[in-house]
Amino acid sequence: MTMQYRVTPGGAIRGEINVPGDKSVSHRALMLGGIAEGDTRIKGFLDSADCLATLAALQNLGVSIERPGPGKVLVHGVGMHGLRAPARPLDMGNAGTAMRLFMGLLSSQKFNSTLVGDASLSRRPMERVAVPLRLMGAQIKTRNDCPPVEIEGGANLRAIKYDLPVASAQVKSAILLAGLCADGRTKVLEPAVTRDHTERMLSAFGVEVLRSRKALAIGGGQILHGTSIDVPGDFSSAAFFMILGCLASQEGIVLRGVGINPTRTGLLELLRKMGADVRIRKHVDTGATGTRKMATAFGGSIGETTRTMPALEPTADIEVRASKLKGIKVPENLVPLAIDELPIFFIAAACAEGETLVRGAHELRVKESDRLAVMAEGLTRLGVKNELLPDGIWIEGGKGFKGGRVDSHGDHRAAMAFAVAASRAEEAIEIDDVANVATSFPTFVEAARAVGLGVELAGAES
Ligand code: S3P
Repeated sequence: MTMQYRVTPGGAIRGEINVPGDKSVSHRALMLGGIAEGDTRIKGFLDSADCLATLAALQNLGVSIERPGPGKVLVHGVGMHGLRAPARPLDMGNAGTAMRLFMGLLSSQKFNSTLVGDASLSRRPMERVAVPLRLMGAQIKTRNDCPPVEIEGGANLRAIKYDLPVASAQVKSAILLAGLCADGRTKVLEPAVTRDHTERMLSAFGVEVLRSRKALAIGGGQILHGTSIDVPGDFSSAAFFMILGCLASQEGIVLRGVGINPTRTGLLELLRKMGADVRIRKHVDTGATGTRKMATAFGGSIGETTRTMPALEPTADIEVRASKLKGIKVPENLVPLAIDELPIFFIAAACAEGETLVRGAHELRVKESDRLAVMAEGLTRLGVKNELLPDGIWIEGGKGFKGGRVDSHGDHRAAMAFAVAASRAEEAIEIDDVANVATSFPTFVEAARAVGLGVELAGAES
């Protein structure tokens, strides 16, 4: 028996949603809070399975954590050298971010640790993190590139200069976290801009991170100071309702308090190119706040436009309305800035007039599922003509969806994307294997129903 959604078309789509906390920011707030000196108070924390895996792992590493109320977390930081050997392997569940960032954090510790995950995570590549960490002196083993990941304690890390072969915020973040404990200044070059939450949050904890256009640098030995973190709403969760609004809401949907960090909002640009009616209101630069005590006087330039990282995460309300969309060719530089939104973007493309082409998105093949294959299979089942490419997809839009049964293959974002498709379907859509929606958006069904999307949860024979 697996969990299934049955989503029926029809009914007016309208209303407001307070978007739940950002997953990337919630993971980082816990981890940095854990290795900071003093307490960190987190508000707006995402209570999802992925973030709770990070929370439990920190507890197993000896960090005491309190939950004073819904969305609130109080982390009693133990400092960079205060973590304890875990009694058992640390279970990261479905969370790639947790596993890869912990690899960076644990590679400089005195004790051994083992990181494990669920069936999906156990198929995902980890050498992309292990390779640069080994160059820094870490002792790490993977099993044919995949978890379990075994980290041997006691390594003395040295700073490196590393050219990232893939545009990945998780790899970048793991190196920066290891760099905090390394001798000297660690420098990372990015092939394309990726989400910068780690850099901003380090800054909120009083750590100096330097940034030029393509490079980042962090000096080892800096101390993190406990702070207060206000987690913005997750743009990636908001994305499902942005597309729902564009496809089916005559009166509009308003999404409150959404993080609009420019390294996350590629989808806004894609929707504008498609002709969508999307408006940004009440834009404020709040979010992660910090005391910004500079721990070390760490000067120096790493390029012409060197600057220190801002500590804040901008937020806004986003209003969307039914729009006549047209197909587009997605510019490749926007792919990393919309990487987690591409499954739901494909649903928008299927409803847009004309053809849409996405290339340069090979990374989608190594997410929680092979998202290119899973989305192509589902689109075909729903009567949408498409062609799966090695690094992308071609979609012929404009005809809407037939009803039918699709398989999310345990991928939370595929499951939610197909649920939104039902708003433009001829008949109900049934989506299999949806339990993992709880990894990023545990209140998705309630939120969808609140704006009029007819989602029902059921058990299904597999
Ligand atoms: C994330 C980075 C991205 C993204 C993931 C969250 C993060 O992964 O897809 O959902 O929090 O750093 P990659 O670094 O593999 O691109």
